[in-house]
Amino acid sequence: MDRFQEQIKHYDKLSQQGSESSMGRIGSDSVKKSLSTPYKYCEDFVKNLSNKQDLELLDFGCGTGSHSIAMALQGAKVTGIDISQLTLNKGYHLASQLSLNHRINFVRGNCEQMPFKDHSFDIIYCSGSMFCFDLDKAYKELNRVVRPGGLIVLLDTLGHNPLLNLNRWIKLKMGKKIEWSVKHIMKMSDIEKAKKYFDIQHIYFFDFFSVFVAPFEGIFGKFMLPFIYLVQLLDKLFFSIPFTHKMAFKFVCILKKRV
Ligand SMILES: C[S@@+](CC[C@H](N)C(=O)[O-])C[C@H]1O[C@@H](n2cnc3c(N)ncnc32)[C@H](O)[C@@H]1O
Repeated sequence: MDRFQEQIKHYDKLSQQGSESSMGRIGSDSVKKSLSTPYKYCEDFVKNLSNKQDLELLDFGCGTGSHSIAMALQGAKVTGIDISQLTLNKGYHLASQLSLNHRINFVRGNCEQMPFKDHSFDIIYCSGSMFCFDLDKAYKELNRVVRPGGLIVLLDTLGHNPLLNLNRWIKLKMGKKIEWSVKHIMKMSDIEKAKKYFDIQHIYFFDFFSVFVAPFEGIFGKFMLPFIYLVQLLDKLFFSIPFTHKMAFKFVCILKKRV
């Protein structure tokens, strides 16, 4: 089985399992509260763009379309692309439930070779998918389809924290993750590679203490809320200290295509 077939099989299966708690939830609300800060950051980023009503936005590796829908609700005209049809079906379903089909177009395709013309999009959002791709091909495609001066909003997992890497390795051994994805979690050097095509405008780092709180959310529910806010504040303070960034679980990087 080649890499793409393996990804399709894995994500088709995951989409059928779906977590009941996140079913039908949109954008940052579909993520555990303690780990939702980077997703909220991206939603606010799009919300605060002045011309968002006219934006053509691509959700690169869109999965179940939950974030595509959140972006469409901000006003953007969204195209979501993903290789897993069963995953995309969830997006179609949710978008029709919300009568958003006129603002969202889901396309089955390979992000490393997309069926879009050059310079088709003003902004490209990509959350949690870059580790699925051949990075050089993905950056090249992002550069091809985004308009000059356009933005890439990249939200992904960072692969330096040894404890988190141990957890990934355990999940790999348990068959819950694919070897390619575990080996290609992004490092700082992978973010740097974007400079071949883009200017890096900002990089933000998220989730250190929050990661240890997240597993308890399902058990203690709303009682966790004050604790979650406290831990998110601690994370903010932690990442204001130099040399802590590599310990982050997530990062958000804003890239701008040179004109
Ligand atoms: C971890 S999920 C992230 C989904 C979504 N962006 C999110 O944040 O919920 C990764 C997605 O990338 C998709 N994917 C993997 N390889 C792909 C490829 N070569 N082309 C398009 N999509 C791909 C998978 O099907 C999966 O839906």
